[in-house]
Amino acid sequence: MQNTQHTGSPGAGAIPGMSSLPTPSAPPTLPSVPQGAPHTARLRHFVQQLAALVEQRLPEAGTLAQGAKLLGALVAHDDWLPDAYAQPHPERYQQYLLHADALGRFSVVSFVWGPGQATPIHDHTVWGLIGMLRGAEDSQAYARTADGRWTPQGVPVRLQPGQVEAVSPNDPAIGDVHRVSNAWEGHTSISIHVYGANIGAVQRSVYLEDGAHKPFISGYSNSTLPNIWDLSKNPAPSARP
Ligand SMILES: [Fe+2]
Repeated sequence: MQNTQHTGSPGAGAIPGMSSLPTPSAPPTLPSVPQGAPHTARLRHFVQQLAALVEQRLPEAGTLAQGAKLLGALVAHDDWLPDAYAQPHPERYQQYLLHADALGRFSVVSFVWGPGQATPIHDHTVWGLIGMLRGAEDSQAYARTADGRWTPQGVPVRLQPGQVEAVSPNDPAIGDVHRVSNAWEGHTSISIHVYGANIGAVQRSVYLEDGAHKPFISGYSNSTLPNIWDLSKNPAPSARP
């Protein structure tokens, strides 16, 4: 897995192709919202930009590079995620769907870690981007050995707020199999994920280190979605007086 800061020039560990692609225009200034209300316009703007990005049908490296910049801009602010999609569960991590593209081209998820929670070793089978919003998480990449077992590859990557990591089933330099854990023993951590499919409906696998695997479809923890489309409560910049 590779990660990059959303700002600054990419160096070692940057997502391939990132430096050669144009920087998207800066997001518009957001309107003021009532105190205490989340800036859901940020999520709406992100979803709109992502829809425009996937519409370009770039090679995966280009989608990851451009998408990483968009996600980095989203997780640079921690004032937009409604509380309902930031709640940990005492026994298991939560995966809240925030938006699903109507054509299944991408989905946006908040991944909420309770203290000490971790995933098993798992894959994704589609491209993905992980942006750290709150707290921190550790991602340990895994590689398959010649005899079919899974073994840790390299050192764990700690993702801090504002940082973005990629996964890819198509680029061995990025990798698609990892194990992720909340870096904080006593606090909730939250990352925002984007995948190149409706990830909760994708058949994937969890792995044991001995090589055994079990298919799974994750589904989602929520049955309702955040309403990012009510412009009367969180108007678009152009609707401001
Ligand atoms: Fe993952």
